[in-house]
Amino acid sequence: MKAIVFHKPNDMRYENVPDPKLEANTDVILRVTSTAICGSDLHIYNGYFPQVENMVMGHEFMGIVEEVGKGVTKLKKGDRVVIPFVISCGSCWFCNHDFPTGCETSNPANYGPEGGILKEKGGGLFGFTNLYGGYSGGQAEYVRVPFGDIGPQLVPDDLTDDQVLFLSDILPTAYTALKWAEVKEGETVAIFGSGPVGLMAQKLARLMGASKVIAVDPLDYRLAVASRNGHATHTINPEKTDPVEAIRELTSGRGADVCIDAVGMEAKRTILEKASNIIHMQGGTSKVLETAMSAVRRSGRVSVVGVYGTKYDSFNLAQFFDKNITMKMGQAWVQNFNDELLGFIRSGKIRADDIISHRIAMKDAPKAYEIFNKKEDNCVKVVMTP
Ligand SMILES: NC(=O)c1ccc[n+]([C@@H]2O[C@H](COP(=O)([O-])OP(=O)(O)OC[C@H]3O[C@@H](n4cnc5c(N)ncnc54)[C@H](O)[C@@H]3O)[C@@H](O)[C@H]2O)c1
Ligand SMILES: [Zn+2]
Ligand SMILES: [Zn+2]
Repeated sequence: MKAIVFHKPNDMRYENVPDPKLEANTDVILRVTSTAICGSDLHIYNGYFPQVENMVMGHEFMGIVEEVGKGVTKLKKGDRVVIPFVISCGSCWFCNHDFPTGCETSNPANYGPEGGILKEKGGGLFGFTNLYGGYSGGQAEYVRVPFGDIGPQLVPDDLTDDQVLFLSDILPTAYTALKWAEVKEGETVAIFGSGPVGLMAQKLARLMGASKVIAVDPLDYRLAVASRNGHATHTINPEKTDPVEAIRELTSGRGADVCIDAVGMEAKRTILEKASNIIHMQGGTSKVLETAMSAVRRSGRVSVVGVYGTKYDSFNLAQFFDKNITMKMGQAWVQNFNDELLGFIRSGKIRADDIISHRIAMKDAPKAYEIFNKKEDNCVKVVMTP
């Protein structure tokens, strides 16, 4: 079959790979009908997450069940499903306590309690390096999906692929961040990053009753998308306006009730900032998180879904303490929220597909990675068809 294969940083190829096979009786083989490129794929593309072997990319995908293992009871050939990027077994301690990202079963080679940089990671993720289980991803014609009775979510026929594809990641990721932050009616939510995750967070924050939703991003074309449908009430380009000052001005000097970091370690940096990060042996930067800590009010909540993959020594613990900040971060608890989110889509409360800027055939993915990475051609979200 054909797939998008990571060879080394900045080298994605469309090529032949062996067809996936059932490996356990709880596996499902899926024929992929739609798949997308995520900001998280860029961390691999840019070499922030190391991967030594070639790997089929992709953790945002959906399709039609082609084959089921003997132990799968809830799915049959022909079912149409969307797949969470988090691989959860459904029966270990963490899965039983609604922490699917902590699954003790899905990443046998590299799982552990420590959460180190190169070992003892969390549960398995599709197409996200050997650190997270070495699973082949869904930017492919076919993909093996483990624990077929647990992850795949059945999709009603009256909804198109575009409408539901983002249940695989960006929609539940944004919702996880807002749920962690316990957003309440009338609150001010500042969202750093107006990429796909930030844009979903803006929509959902409004749905949860936030009265002010402030979008922060250095790309004006993405801020335009943020305000296009009225999802963001205010937009700030941090290269033109100090976001901390602007957010305080909008909140009687106090700061936002909630700040969401939907950027992570690959935030845009000046040459000086890059040099400083290199001297301190830090992969990427924690600058957005630091800005969020300043922009949140005392006793406010900071939720971090932007990915960080290394240690940073500039974290201002004194500020964290003095301001009584609550912070929560990590991979999204996709499985916990997807039924509710599907309900939002069906009832028309949320529309996710209006952020798609590029629809391509999968063979064109190597070029699309380049465009999405460089933020060219007004690229927001690339969806492809195998
Ligand atoms: N935790 C999870 O489970 C999970 C799931 C999906 C994605 N993610 C992560 O979320 C982040 C965003 O993903 P995406 O797909 O939207 O990626 P993206 O790269 O399209 O978006 C990132 C956005 O951040 C903006 N940005 C850069 N520097 C900034 C700054 N200083 N201040 C404000 N904005 C800045 C960029 O211009 C861009 O629009 C990535 O780190 C991705 O890995 C995490
Ligand atoms: Zn993703
Ligand atoms: Zn588990």
